[in-house]
Amino acid sequence: MMSYLKKYWYWCLLAPVFMMGEITMDLLQPDFMANIVDNGVLKHNMPLILSMGLRMILLVMFGGVCGFLSGWASNIAGQNFGNDLRKDLFSKIMNLSFQQTDKISTGSLVTRLSNDVTQVQNMVMLAVRGLVRSSIMFIGGIFMLYMQSPKFALIAILALPFVILSVWFFMRKASPMFTAVQQKIDGINNIMQENIAGARVVKAYVKEDYELGRFESANGELCDVNLRVQSLLAFMGPCMNIILNLCVVAIILIGGITVKNNGGITTGEIMAAITYIAMILMSVMFMANIFQTFTRAKASAERINEVLSCGHIIRSGDVSESHSQGGEIEFRNVCFAYPDSGKRSVLENINLKIHSGETLAILGATGSGKSTLVNLIPRFYDVTSGEVLLDGINVKEYDLKHLRDKISIVLQKAELYSRSIEENIKWGKKDATPWEIKEAAQIAQADNFICAAPNGYYTPVSEGGHSLSGGQKQRISIARALLKKAEILIFDDSTSALDLKTEANLYKALNEKFPETTKIIIAQRIASVRGADRIVVMDNGKITACGTHDELLETSEIYKDIYYSQLKKE
Ligand SMILES: Nc1ncnc2c1ncn2[C@@H]1O[C@H](COP(=O)(O)OP(=O)(O)OP(=O)(O)O)[C@@H](O)[C@H]1O
Ligand SMILES: [Mg+2]
Repeated sequence: MMSYLKKYWYWCLLAPVFMMGEITMDLLQPDFMANIVDNGVLKHNMPLILSMGLRMILLVMFGGVCGFLSGWASNIAGQNFGNDLRKDLFSKIMNLSFQQTDKISTGSLVTRLSNDVTQVQNMVMLAVRGLVRSSIMFIGGIFMLYMQSPKFALIAILALPFVILSVWFFMRKASPMFTAVQQKIDGINNIMQENIAGARVVKAYVKEDYELGRFESANGELCDVNLRVQSLLAFMGPCMNIILNLCVVAIILIGGITVKNNGGITTGEIMAAITYIAMILMSVMFMANIFQTFTRAKASAERINEVLSCGHIIRSGDVSESHSQGGEIEFRNVCFAYPDSGKRSVLENINLKIHSGETLAILGATGSGKSTLVNLIPRFYDVTSGEVLLDGINVKEYDLKHLRDKISIVLQKAELYSRSIEENIKWGKKDATPWEIKEAAQIAQADNFICAAPNGYYTPVSEGGHSLSGGQKQRISIARALLKKAEILIFDDSTSALDLKTEANLYKALNEKFPETTKIIIAQRIASVRGADRIVVMDNGKITACGTHDELLETSEIYKDIYYSQLKKE
C-alpha cells in the first residue's frame, strides 16, 4: 500500500515540515506566558506585557499559517492516495472472475471500495501530520519542562509508564473489535444490496417485515460492537485525565514547596510547567488516537489487500490470431464442477463439435447444465478436466480479451444500465453509427417498440431496466449482442419472454443477416429450437442426444416427451 504514497512523497514531506513550524510555536507560548506573568504582571511592567503580547500574537499567526499549509499538504497526499487506491481497487474488482466475486460477495466488495478505503485514507492524513505533531510535542514538551526544572521533567517521566500501560491495555482490547465492526458493515451492505436490488420480489412476497427484521438484527449487531468499542475507548479519556491531574497536583506541590523555600522557581514557571505536562500527556493520548486509527486502518488495509492480491484464477493466454472464417467450437471430454460446491459434477464428459456458421440449439430441463456449458466458452469458468477448443486452439491459450471479443453472449438474466436505450445497445460497440444501432434493433425485433417510446432511442431506461417489460429487456440485450458482430453468438434462454411470432421473426432475421456466425441457442421451448441445424438434449449434466428435430423425434425419448408435453399445452 505504501507504493500508492510514493507518488505523493513531496506532499507527505511538506505536511510534517509545516507541522514542525506550528508545533514549535505552540511549544514557545507557555514560556512566553511565564515571562509575561513573572516579569510583566507581577512586576507591573506594562511595556514588557505589550511587547511580549505582540510577539505572542505574531507567533500564533505564524503557527496558524504553518498549520494551514500542513493540513493542505496532508489533504493533497491523502485525497490523491485514496483516489488512486479506489481506482485500482475498482479496476481489480472489475477483473475478478465470477468465482472470486461469488466468494467475497458483492456487499463486502462495496464496503471495501467505500468504507475501507476511507479508513486507510484517514490514516494517511492523520499519520503525515499527527505522528509528527505528537512526537515533537512529546519530545519538545519534555525538553521545555526540563528547562523550567529537572524535577518537573522527572514527574512527567514517572507518569509515562502509567500512560503507556493504560493506552496499551485499551488498544489491545479494542483492536479485534475493529475487524468485527468492518465485518458487521459487510453484513449490512449485503442485506441492503440484496433488498434494494430485489425490492420487487420482497414486495411480491410481502416480506418487508421479514427483511426489516433481518436488517434490524444485522444493524443491531453492528451497533453492539460499535458500542462495546466506544465504551471501552470512553474509559481511556478519564484514565488519562486522572494521571494528568495527579501530575498537575505533583507540580503544584513541588513548585509550591520550592517557591516557599526560595528555590528559584517562579509562579509563571509553575504555570508553564502545568501547560507543558498537559501537552506531553495529550501528545501521548494523541498518539494513542493515531494508533487506534492505525489499528482500524490496518484491518481495512488487509481487506483491501485481500482483493488487490487476488491472483488471476482465469489466466490470459497470448494467442490473438483470428481465422478468416472462424467460430468452430469443440468440447473434448469436458467435466466441470463449481469450485465451491465440493466435487458434485455439473457437467460430465461432454464431447461436442459445433461447426463454423452452424446454428446449434441446446434443450434440457432446468438445472441440467446448459448455462454452465456455454459459460465455459468465454471462460467465465474454466473446465475441471478436458478442454474447450475454439478454431482448434484451447480457449485457455487465447488472450482473454481477444477470446471474449470473438464471442457475443446474451446472458440468461438481461442486465441493462440506467442510460438511454441507444446507449444500452451501443454498449456492444462504442463507435456504432445510428444506422447500425437501428439495424441491430430491427433484427432483434426491438425497433418497433423503441420507436413508439416517448423519446425513441433516447428514452431513458430505469435502473436494472425496470421501466421495460421482460421481453423488451431481452430484445435490447439481443440487439446489444448483435451489434458486436462477433464470430460466435450465444443466446442463453434469451427469447423466453417473447411470443412465438416475434421469436420466429427474430430467428428468421438472424439467419438472413448472420449466416456465417456460429449460433448457440439455449431454450426451453421446442418451437424456439426446431429450426436449428442440430439440437443437443441435455440431462443432468450429460448430452443424451444430438440431431435435427426430426431425428430426435425418432431417437430421443426425452426430446419426444418434451415435444408432446408442449404440443399438448399449445
Ligand atoms: N455459481 C454457481 N455455483 C455453484 N453451483 C452452481 C452455480 N451456477 C449453477 N450452479 C449449479 O449448476 C447446475 C447447473 O446449472 P445451470 O445454470 O447450468 O443450469 P441450466 O441448465 O442453465 O438451468 P436453467 O434452464 O434453469 O437456466 C445447477 O444444479 C446449479 O445449481
Ligand atoms: Mg441457464
